[in-house]
Amino acid sequence: MSSSAPTLPLLDVRPPADALRDEVLSGLRDTPKHLPAKLFYDARGSRLFDAICELDAYYLTRTEEAIMEAHAGEIVEVLGPHVLLVEYGSGSSRKTRILLERLEAPAGYVPVDISRDHLVRAAERIASAYPDLPVLPVCADYTASFRLPEPDGHVRRTVVYYPGSTIGNFTPEAARGFLARIARQVGPDGGLLVGVDLKKDAARLRAAYNDAEGVTAAFNKNVLRRINRELGADFDLDRFRHEAVYNAEEGRIEMYLVSETDQEVVVDGVRIAFAAGERICTEYSYKYTIEDFAALAAEAGWAVERVWTDDDRLFSVHYARPTREP
Ligand code: TRP
Repeated sequence: MSSSAPTLPLLDVRPPADALRDEVLSGLRDTPKHLPAKLFYDARGSRLFDAICELDAYYLTRTEEAIMEAHAGEIVEVLGPHVLLVEYGSGSSRKTRILLERLEAPAGYVPVDISRDHLVRAAERIASAYPDLPVLPVCADYTASFRLPEPDGHVRRTVVYYPGSTIGNFTPEAARGFLARIARQVGPDGGLLVGVDLKKDAARLRAAYNDAEGVTAAFNKNVLRRINRELGADFDLDRFRHEAVYNAEEGRIEMYLVSETDQEVVVDGVRIAFAAGERICTEYSYKYTIEDFAALAAEAGWAVERVWTDDDRLFSVHYARPTREP
């Protein structure tokens, strides 16, 4: 039971609330309108995302998990002993267990997530399941720079684990900058284990982001609910609908909230006008080929050494090492 769960030293370096206000307002004043993706992950959003991961249509999570299970022995072998495993966007830390169960004498586990309570609960579950493992949670917006906590024992290699194809939620240009920063953060002996969703039949992709149960729609709309609550806005959730389209030219799923009518919304005292059919872009999800991703990683200072995939080539897991001095 959780009553015996240890209290972990949480490092909380979240951005201040007024930074969020400025980001939201500048996105809504822009043309076309957009909102930052990190808004998705409040407590309710994190729960809804966990539900997305269980959907039949959302093949990503179970396929990635199956790849990790099938190749776990090899993966922990290339990572080696005394690894400090840093997970960006750790959420419920479910897939991580596949690694933590098998890693040889891991130096520690650093789950990093923007959703504080979700992070603390997941970190406590991991700490109870692996009593010998130092667990050092960090609550942060990991797209900004932050310092890693240092465990007491010897660290042979710092490995960033970035599953879920979350790298696809950056534009390729932003992904390059982000991956280059990770290379500097882990140093020349470091590593990167990253899950990347692959290009495939457009109907399959569309279905993954337009589930019949409406969970993805609820997840997308939760952003407006959150802005209402945290920034005192008056979005009418019934006058916006979820839309996810595949843009084949750009190789990405595009997530929108579409205004059903002409309307005006007040966000922290600022009036924002919407025309009927006008869209707010809430997220992109880029899809790669194995070669394209390796090329992008190379431009960011990484050499992909191993790639694991499923038989249907739906999803891929890449292990990369830094190529240049940071
Ligand atoms: N990293 C996930 C992905 O690109 C995030 C995600 C899944 C998502 N479903 C979503 C983001 C729906 C916005 C809306 O698949």
